[in-house]
Amino acid sequence: MWKPSERIKYKPSPGVWPSAAEAASSVLFQPLSYQALALENRTWVPAMVPWRAEESGEVTDDNVDWYGRFARGRPGAIVVEATGIRDVPSGPLLRAGDDRFVPGLARIAERVRAESDGHTRVYIQLIDFLAVRRRPDPGKYFERHLAIRPEHLQALGVDDERAARARFAELDDEALRQVLDAREYDALARGYRERVTDTHLPHIADLPNVLPDLFAQAARRVKAAGFDGVELHYAHAYTMASFLSATNTRTDGYGGSREARVRLALQIIDAVRAEVGASYTLGCRFLADECIDGGSTVEDACVYGVAFARAGLDFLSLSRGGKFDDAKQPKLGEAVYPYTGRSGYECMPQYISDERGPFGRNLQAARAIRAAVREAGFDVPVVAAGGIHNFEQAEAVIDSGAGDVVGFARQALADPDWFEKVRQGRGGEVRLCEYTNYCEGLDQKHKQVTCQLWDRLDDGKPCTMTHDGKRRLLAPDWS
Ligand SMILES: Cc1cc2nc3c(=O)[nH]c(=O)nc-3n(C[C@H](O)[C@H](O)[C@H](O)COP(=O)(O)O)c2cc1C
Ligand code: SF4
Repeated sequence: MWKPSERIKYKPSPGVWPSAAEAASSVLFQPLSYQALALENRTWVPAMVPWRAEESGEVTDDNVDWYGRFARGRPGAIVVEATGIRDVPSGPLLRAGDDRFVPGLARIAERVRAESDGHTRVYIQLIDFLAVRRRPDPGKYFERHLAIRPEHLQALGVDDERAARARFAELDDEALRQVLDAREYDALARGYRERVTDTHLPHIADLPNVLPDLFAQAARRVKAAGFDGVELHYAHAYTMASFLSATNTRTDGYGGSREARVRLALQIIDAVRAEVGASYTLGCRFLADECIDGGSTVEDACVYGVAFARAGLDFLSLSRGGKFDDAKQPKLGEAVYPYTGRSGYECMPQYISDERGPFGRNLQAARAIRAAVREAGFDVPVVAAGGIHNFEQAEAVIDSGAGDVVGFARQALADPDWFEKVRQGRGGEVRLCEYTNYCEGLDQKHKQVTCQLWDRLDDGKPCTMTHDGKRRLLAPDWS
């Protein structure tokens, strides 16, 4: 992963933990209600992909146990991992692209309700993504994948496709950069990746026609599965964030100006709302800042936040960065991973950091977006996250106007009982996340995600293990 050049090391701080009475009267543990959103308290576990689904996209027992384990800590809400709206092969990631996924998804919602005694709301994040191929072997790329163009023949001084392919294989990197165009070179160096601006491809041109209904049908299914609400994934490296991005130059009314870039996101909100109804919780996660050259900034996010609030969303969840644009070159045969560049660092900042540190890097932007939304007259709750691990930080998120709800992703992974421990005045027993990003490294390798603080602990009780039998899949119980 990219690291800031300053390389300052940070340690998480427990801060001062509250007594049970102090926790009970804190803002963090007060209920929150807005339109269809009703939380018992303002703690939130944002979406985290654990790589536990079947290759077919079906829910496994491991998925159900994973969310059940989070629910035992009784956070205000859990957002189930990014779940695909299409029924297309995408590895062991959850899908909601067909009615056959409903019974499996229902098991997750039921388990969260049962383990939390109904105290935790369970939402699910719905995602669309475009094709990303692995970085090819150069020989195969020139032999099979590269479409030979007349310009190639001319630049290489050859007459036919076969000769061009053979000649390409002999060129060094500098020569290749001159003969290939930017996209062809990128496909060679990092693997082919579709963009929302590839409107010469019919299925990409058609995205505004198909996505509203795909999201709406997926939302219908997860509602039928018993989820309390839906979070539309408009963040990071995926289709909808790419539409919102300042790098979106589509000329069909869905790119260019901010108004055009946000148009599809609003059409999807309308389509989903029409399907699920006004009393069903509907929110979205989007970027406070893309953190890439030429990308959308907090000014864009303020405009989007107001537009989403006006469209009637029940919550706005903010993330940061996590783009393909500045991701590191993958190894041969591996796919580019959107959390390896500077923007990836901004999304999941690590303990080795710069003077701003890894704790609360998104809060300044979140405060500005929330203020813009309030100024426009909307009270929609904002979920702020990023490096929050102690009670004082969490309270400060709300007190300082950066958010109404506090997201704890890696901290909840390190200790799913954070919420219950703090509520009971036993914060001193919290296992603090060290922000090493070991978990994120597993995600990058598409391995079952666990936390290094507990995955080798043996509490003497039986526990399911990772495929290689070395790591436990769930945090040990708090006793
Ligand atoms: C293993 C892992 C998987 C993640 N998967 C998702 C995801 O599916 N959707 C999403 O919006 N964010 C995802 N994230 C980002 C987190 O939700 C969160 O925004 C980020 O970790 C920063 O918050 P934190 O500092 O509290 O961990 C993931 C993070 C981790 C560590
Ligand atoms: S592995 Fe555990 S301690 Fe390390 S960043 Fe992830 S959750 Fe935190």
